[in-house]
Amino acid sequence: MFSRTNNCGELNKTHIGSSVLLCGWVNSLRTHGKIIFIDIRDRYGKTQVILDKDNLIDKGNSLSNEDVISISGKVSARTKEFVNKEIATGEIEVIVDKLEILSVSDPLPVPIHDRDASTEEQRLKYRYLELRNKTLQDNLIKRHHAAQVVRNFLSKKDFIEIETPVLMKSTPEGARDYLVPSRVHHGKFYALPQSPQMYKQLFMISGLDKYFQIVKCFRDEDLRSDRQPEFTQIDLEMSFVDEPDIRNLVENLITTVFKEVNDVKIKKPFPIITHNESIQRYGTDKPDLRYDMELNDFKDFSDKSDFKSFKDLEYISMISVKDEGFFSRKIIDELDDYAKSLGAKGLAWMKCKNNTLDGGIARFFDSNLQSDIISNYKLKNNSICFMVGDNSKLALKVLGSVRTKIAEMLNLCDNTIFKPVWIVDFPLFEWDEEKKRFESVNHPFTAPKDSDIEKLSSHPEDVISKGYDIVINGYEVAGGSIRIHDNEMQKQIFEIMNMKEKEINEKFGFFIDALKFGTPPHGGIAFGFDRLVMLLCGVNNIRDIIAFPKTTSASALMEEAPNTISETQLNDLNISINDNEKDI
Ligand code: AMO
Repeated sequence: MFSRTNNCGELNKTHIGSSVLLCGWVNSLRTHGKIIFIDIRDRYGKTQVILDKDNLIDKGNSLSNEDVISISGKVSARTKEFVNKEIATGEIEVIVDKLEILSVSDPLPVPIHDRDASTEEQRLKYRYLELRNKTLQDNLIKRHHAAQVVRNFLSKKDFIEIETPVLMKSTPEGARDYLVPSRVHHGKFYALPQSPQMYKQLFMISGLDKYFQIVKCFRDEDLRSDRQPEFTQIDLEMSFVDEPDIRNLVENLITTVFKEVNDVKIKKPFPIITHNESIQRYGTDKPDLRYDMELNDFKDFSDKSDFKSFKDLEYISMISVKDEGFFSRKIIDELDDYAKSLGAKGLAWMKCKNNTLDGGIARFFDSNLQSDIISNYKLKNNSICFMVGDNSKLALKVLGSVRTKIAEMLNLCDNTIFKPVWIVDFPLFEWDEEKKRFESVNHPFTAPKDSDIEKLSSHPEDVISKGYDIVINGYEVAGGSIRIHDNEMQKQIFEIMNMKEKEINEKFGFFIDALKFGTPPHGGIAFGFDRLVMLLCGVNNIRDIIAFPKTTSASALMEEAPNTISETQLNDLNISINDNEKDI
């Protein structure tokens, strides 16, 4: 008896008197003498149904939670005292005439409505059950909605969605590749795309003008709460553009998504700060601008003090925070341990009270110096300063992380507020001390600033790129660049990265060739779609917005991937597994 007349979330007062047929899961059961109350649930909601007829009671008593049933009956008004304003169907109930049990459920290994009651391992093993949870279903629905808004927005602006190969040659994005052995070409491997970077640039050479794709990418890298080995990008590329054109399009895209999906208005234009400024002010190139607490250069003052530990250090970085009694010795010690775990020698501190500095290292600053510090940094009474001294890179990085930690402790991270910022002017290269060569900060297809082209051969370390990132609430949500569209310059970049002609040709010959045949100036960007959805859903764990995520060790616990493969498959691929590894 299918033919649902309604879903479980839509019946209300207007349906009173109608005959309906609902299907769903038994969400809860309550028996009161000869009456059984059932909440029947589907994706859309819950409806209370009542079994009060003698011929239904036995069947009703045999039910348990998560059985799948179908009921037909009449919609009736609930008596006033039983109206439930919390749910859409709370004013009605259905008096059942007919009950069919479609499927009986074993007791569940993980509770659905209380995710905290089981470990993440258990939940991921039974992910299909966890996905019955309303919050997770709502997250997936929001994800779908966001993808639709993106597709509509870009399609209206003349972008076309084109699929790119999944079995491909490696594109360098800085992570390890996932590799697929070829059965036909023994000893050869495809790489899964870390991104469709080269393909999208080739589309520009093909004259397709505006491309986008919501696309799976694969990176074998250390996983974190905002990183998965397979993740989704909103990838796009445009011809005849410069940075402001990309910024304009992307800001319109982001504000449209937040408005249509979350009904939140984000102000345009987004602020722009340089990479260097971001490091100086926030100790990171992924600053969270929902709160202030900017980092200050404290060296001038620490040099004038008697605090010897800071004397010979290159950089002293300082933040001040309102205290109001929160920063007890225990909390300060916790922060000190945290700073040490990040490589600092310690976290110095002092409090500002009654217009003087007190506690921690305050005794090393004489009263004149204390007054100067208080007035220079406009320190308020009942505030506390934290300082890290080291080389500038470490001092800034550690205090930047301490800033984030303090914001978490003080609950300054309101997930309903969104603060986007463009980070620009990245260096084109960074020196890799291990490999003793320059690596691209972004990827090797990123163009240098026009004014820095001359420095490419003489001072590559000083060249600034035409790369840009968007950071929202401390997450790097998107990154892209204006590209090199000149084959000689592209070759030069690979050479600066110490690649020999042979290697360049083997890896990128087809691409450098393509640049010779009339390449329009072009640029683009890729969003981490998962991260965008995390922000929209207000969650801090990427696994909460992906249907079947991997664990931090890149395992799929439900289907148990990766797994071993048969000897026949290995033989087909001409691959042998080292004997020592076989039993692991
Ligand atoms: P990039 O490497 O910066 O650029 O990647 C773009 C965005 O993808 C997201 N991202 C990830 N999300 C989840 N898990 C991961 N492992 C992961 N890695 C990256 C981030 C990031 O900002 N081809 C270039 C783009 C371009 O130049 O147009 C690229 O892939 O949000």
